[in-house]
Amino acid sequence: MKPCTIARLAGALAVAGLVTGHALAQAPDLQPLPEPKFNKAQAELGRYFFFDVRMSGDAALSCATCHDPAKGWSDGQPLAKGYPASEYFRNSPTIINATLKNRFMWDGRLDGSDAGTLVRDMMTEAHTMNMDARLAQERVKQVPEYVAMWQTAVKKGDDPNGMRIFNIIGEFIKSVTSRNVPIDKFLKGDATALSAEAKAGYDVFKGKGNCVSCHNGPVGSDGKLHKTGVPENPEVWNDPLRAITMLRHYSTSGMPNYMNARTDVGSYAITKDKRDIGKFATPSIRDLKYTAPYMHNGMFATLDQVIDFYDRGGGAGSELKPLNLAAAEKQALKTFLLDGMSGDPVTVEIPKMPAYQVRAFGKN
Ligand code: HEC
Ligand code: HEC
Repeated sequence: MKPCTIARLAGALAVAGLVTGHALAQAPDLQPLPEPKFNKAQAELGRYFFFDVRMSGDAALSCATCHDPAKGWSDGQPLAKGYPASEYFRNSPTIINATLKNRFMWDGRLDGSDAGTLVRDMMTEAHTMNMDARLAQERVKQVPEYVAMWQTAVKKGDDPNGMRIFNIIGEFIKSVTSRNVPIDKFLKGDATALSAEAKAGYDVFKGKGNCVSCHNGPVGSDGKLHKTGVPENPEVWNDPLRAITMLRHYSTSGMPNYMNARTDVGSYAITKDKRDIGKFATPSIRDLKYTAPYMHNGMFATLDQVIDFYDRGGGAGSELKPLNLAAAEKQALKTFLLDGMSGDPVTVEIPKMPAYQVRAFGKN
């Protein structure tokens, strides 16, 4: 290579370096929540299906059993229940703003842009709702109100269809988003939207606490996998029903040597990359006021415990460093998370379930 070419190459690299340097200089930050986009008529029908226990195999539970609006669209328990005779091995996450994330599930195993697929899994998996799409379709067809709503929401003359039910519930969950949150007003320029203490907490969040390096963007998630070292929840192994569901999940995911696993390996079960053992997808940190207990296994009952955990630099094998926050900084951070990042309760009208009324012969 001629010297002048090398010089030009070096120049080009320097420019590239400057460009990257500039991109890095723009520190990540929280962003206002975008307006939710969804099909209104379908979301309205989806609201009925979300609360309807007939969407589960033995009509014992609905989506709302584990994602209850009165409990922050979660269930208030450290670990989720399951379909009768099974229990789940992780916490039931809130669905508030879930469809604004780029990954679904604690281990990030599903693409966040596809609400229909997520609903399909929730409904058909044996340990959640154990429901068959064709059975759902025939049940819906024997409820005249549903058939009528379907015609408006989907297409005139169209008959209820099992696969479409998933997408219709998906439209409803897209409508479940934060309301009237101080941080959104603040980020849009209303300096009075946060109290002095919440503002101080926001400074800790972005500064000494470095929370913003992972919790950024509109929902407060970078959409990536990280290891924070949350301690295992012993109940997962002490309760055979939970251990069974966990091993079944590992086995279905094709995780090598899964019978020897005695911990929640997180994203590793999906990626099979050893570096992902114990990693989880960064969750949203909006509306935390309503969604305790926290973390993939509900190990922290309060935000004080969460903040102390981060202050220690997380748990075993964590990628975090100790923060050494002063008591006042911890308090401010908590106020910011509770008051600044949480909005009004996200409520919807709980529909009155229309009854079965068998269709006239020949009209199916
Ligand atoms: C038996 C309890 C249970 C039922 C019933 C249930 N879910 Fe879930 N849901 C969970 C659990 C637990 C997870 C997290 C699973 C994981 O990460 O391994 C979850 C995850 C989700 C997520 C992803 C949230 C996120 O931030 O990644 C959404 C959205 C969701 N469920 C919606 C629904 C809908 C819609 C229904 C009804 C069709 C439903 N769920 C029924 C327990 C339940
Ligand atoms: C290295 C990335 C990273 C950093 C830095 C980080 N977090 Fe997290 N955060 C995560 C991940 C990943 C989880 C989920 C961990 C799990 O469930 O095991 C999480 C979970 C949480 C939760 C629980 C949310 C829920 O719904 O259960 C809260 C609250 C939280 N973080 C607050 C903070 C605060 C406050 C800071 C700063 C002091 C912070 N995080 C710094 C990655 C990070």
